[in-house]
Amino acid sequence: MGPPGPPGRAEHPRLTTPLAGEPWWRSAVVYQIYPRSFADADGDGVGDLEGIRRHLDHLVWLGVDAVWVSPFFRSPMADFGYDVADYCDVDPLFGTLADFDRLLAEAHERGLKMLIDWVPNHTSNQHPWFAESKSSRSSPKRDWYVWRDRPNNWKAAFDETQSAWTWDEDTGQYYLHLFLPEQPDLNWANAEVVEAMHGVLRFWLDRGVDGFRIDVVHGLGKDQSFPDAPPETADRPWSSQNDHESTHAILRDLRRLVDGYSGDRVLVGEVYLLSTRQVAPYYGDGDELHLAFNFPPLYEPWEAPAWRHSVERVVEELDPRRAWPTWVLSNHDNPRHRTRYGSEARARSAAVLLLTLRGTPFLYAGEELGLEDAEISPERRVDPGGRDGCRAPIPWDASAGHGWAGEDTWLPWPPEADARSAAVGRQDEGSVLHLYRRLLVARRASVALRLGSWSPLPSPSGVFAYVREADGDRRAVVVNYTDDAVEVDLPGPWAVQVASDGSGEGERYEGVAGASQALLLSPGGS
Ligand code: NOJ
Repeated sequence: MGPPGPPGRAEHPRLTTPLAGEPWWRSAVVYQIYPRSFADADGDGVGDLEGIRRHLDHLVWLGVDAVWVSPFFRSPMADFGYDVADYCDVDPLFGTLADFDRLLAEAHERGLKMLIDWVPNHTSNQHPWFAESKSSRSSPKRDWYVWRDRPNNWKAAFDETQSAWTWDEDTGQYYLHLFLPEQPDLNWANAEVVEAMHGVLRFWLDRGVDGFRIDVVHGLGKDQSFPDAPPETADRPWSSQNDHESTHAILRDLRRLVDGYSGDRVLVGEVYLLSTRQVAPYYGDGDELHLAFNFPPLYEPWEAPAWRHSVERVVEELDPRRAWPTWVLSNHDNPRHRTRYGSEARARSAAVLLLTLRGTPFLYAGEELGLEDAEISPERRVDPGGRDGCRAPIPWDASAGHGWAGEDTWLPWPPEADARSAAVGRQDEGSVLHLYRRLLVARRASVALRLGSWSPLPSPSGVFAYVREADGDRRAVVVNYTDDAVEVDLPGPWAVQVASDGSGEGERYEGVAGASQALLLSPGGS
């Protein structure tokens, strides 16, 4: 079969006009791009903004609504861009501000929204603000960072033996860093820091970005007495524990700033607290984050009871606040879900789940190709956090360079890079890529899937089933987590709209979910 042609308009209606009264981001699907790994236009083996621009049509064909681009700002790259040395410029590795403006304009022309990654908890130690702060105890910017005579017991991320405090010989004090010593924490209790960072947001909002993914947002407000972590959690990084009430006022100010712009700009916070109960308050009373990442489901095993519990926790914690959930299975910090769940069949079922739960799904570039993590030999390891595997470059085609401009890429290719490449997937209607596309088409066409209510359906052990409903539109979803076929009786009739393995689509649902199969069902089929 030849490659499918461009999408027909009717198949992929764009969401340029959101449903009445609903901000675009509620019904959107967001696609995360890790720029180092997405596409390289200049041949240095590292992806860049021009590379992203050249592949925007892949995203349009796939049918996502928005892109979140991980940091591309000036950085010494101790944490591959999450150590920012200038918030208002593009690192030459990734291009120029003009490249960014062009990328944004061309994304907008295609109806794609664009979020950028804002890293407000810490800067690079090479940021001029830190250089100034570190220059002397009487520096006007001394208080822009957190300096103390004595450290507390907080641990840094990535290495639980590392203190979150580093001694500065020159000025005889410790500075705080929840992550690497090269990532000193800003002091958000200082009004000048707040003002400077608001300026950063305005810089990008004025350029036209549609919102921000906010890094470690729960880290911003800190208890100014800097108490020790309790003994039972003292060996865990403080970056996954800091949860101080002062962050909420900071967020309300950010929300006011962003809501002052037209176009439903959005704040998506990375609240890396591994409890949905602790994540929920970051939505405030509808006056803090618009969306918050909630990672407990990402860490669940591929088991029906675990997922049912995780989803119910989201309903219990978020619904009373009228907070809109987010769902994510893979990102640049964790092994890909294809790797974690151990089979393509499960990864396909997980895609059905991800794209049919109630909330805004986030895809991580390459999951639509069914990519696994790359094997990283010790000589090729570069990340201090051991996250290289999920950051392997995206193979665009089956040629030797997989569509990258140069010969050597910064990380090795993922397994089966030829067969999993975008070009090969596109030619095979049975591919994971086509499954994602069919799911996205189905989502676009169903108000129940985009915005509808969610209710669990009674289902046998090993199966998670639910129904989505809005304005008379209904969809049912059956996810079989087991490796055997299971009878799942639903009050019907239903027809198979999308099957994770492609089987029986368009046919009547016969009351059975195949081994590791997930089904999206539409009413009918009698
Ligand atoms: C969370 C980011 O996702 C991760 O990649 C980074 O290392 C830390 N925050 C520190 O910025």
